[in-house]
Amino acid sequence: MPRQTPIYYYSSTSGLVRSFAERLGRPAYNLAERAHRLSEVDGPWVLLTPSYKTGNPANDTIPEAVRRFLRSPVNRRSMVGVMGSGNRNFGTHYQMACREIAERSHRPVLFEFELAGTPWDVERAGQILADLDDALAAAHAD
Ligand SMILES: Cc1cc2nc3c(=O)[nH]c(=O)nc-3n(C[C@H](O)[C@H](O)[C@H](O)COP(=O)(O)O)c2cc1C
Repeated sequence: MPRQTPIYYYSSTSGLVRSFAERLGRPAYNLAERAHRLSEVDGPWVLLTPSYKTGNPANDTIPEAVRRFLRSPVNRRSMVGVMGSGNRNFGTHYQMACREIAERSHRPVLFEFELAGTPWDVERAGQILADLDDALAAAHAD
């Protein structure tokens, strides 16, 4: 079996993203925990982030823990894609954190879902990640 690309995610106390991440059946680390937030990843990994509109003039939506984790050049370099959880009620800000990080880092948005995701969302994301595991293993074998 190829290496399972780990997920690093941020989830607030409402825990919607954590619920999704824990159903993926692969290593998943919560950046709300300091030890994970300050760690450096030793290989390709995928970011899973909610968006949190702050209401301040800049209307930042990227969680501080995610920002902190991405301050590490090692982590920035080895991130291979981004997944997002959002809520369409936020209109033009829907998935803004996920999309902004993807654009700035030149990495693809791999999957987007609302709130904690449906069983179908979990299955689809699991398939995308399994395909990614295979592609990374093939690239590594070259
Ligand atoms: C204060 C607040 C602001 C939010 N802002 C956005 C937003 O700008 N865009 C978006 O798509 N979702 C937004 N959401 C929805 C959350 O990203 C979504 O519910 C996510 O699943 C929360 O994950 P968590 O419970 O793991 O923290 C917001 C939710 C809250 C409570």
